Amino acid sequence: MNTASYTTEAIQDAIAQGAITEAYQADPQQVIVALNQLRATEVTSYLPYKQHASMAVSLFAPGLKDDFEAHATLELQHADVLAQRIQQLGGVPISSPVEIAAQAATVGVRPEQGPTRREMIIENLMLERQQVAAYTTFVRELGERDPTTRRLLLEILAETERHASERADYLKSTTDVRP
Ligand SMILES: [Fe+2]
Ligand SMILES: [Fe+2]
Repeated sequence: MNTASYTTEAIQDAIAQGAITEAYQADPQQVIVALNQLRATEVTSYLPYKQHASMAVSLFAPGLKDDFEAHATLELQHADVLAQRIQQLGGVPISSPVEIAAQAATVGVRPEQGPTRREMIIENLMLERQQVAAYTTFVRELGERDPTTRRLLLEILAETERHASERADYLKSTTDVRP
């Protein structure tokens, strides 16, 4: 490979910066902080969906159990997409449970638990809506300064809005059922 046309400094700079070029207009450190907060909301919402999947067995609602399971997996996929972008920007995805809970709370995401199927889904709806608000706020703040992060966030936001809408539709069509 002929790298003679590059100075040593340019090569070292390229290695250190990776995907970040002079055309990148956002502050990577600020984006990393925001992505870690959003990722914390995904890890935090994974847990109640998993818990609801376990509880749904005793509620004799196998379809709902599968839905909760599939949903839990999706939340982890969202967390992984964000972790990958954090790494590309030179950051480290946070992994301490205490820090994850604290970061999720900074953007208003605090999962609760409820005893009935309807209450579980109300909590899911609230949580999805908190995430919709957090993603929307950050996408607006970010603007066009980091197009790749923006696109990834918009994809997750669209799925999260779909989740919220599905929860709301379910709640409109059912009445409360005690287990
Ligand atoms: Fe999610
Ligand atoms: Fe979701």
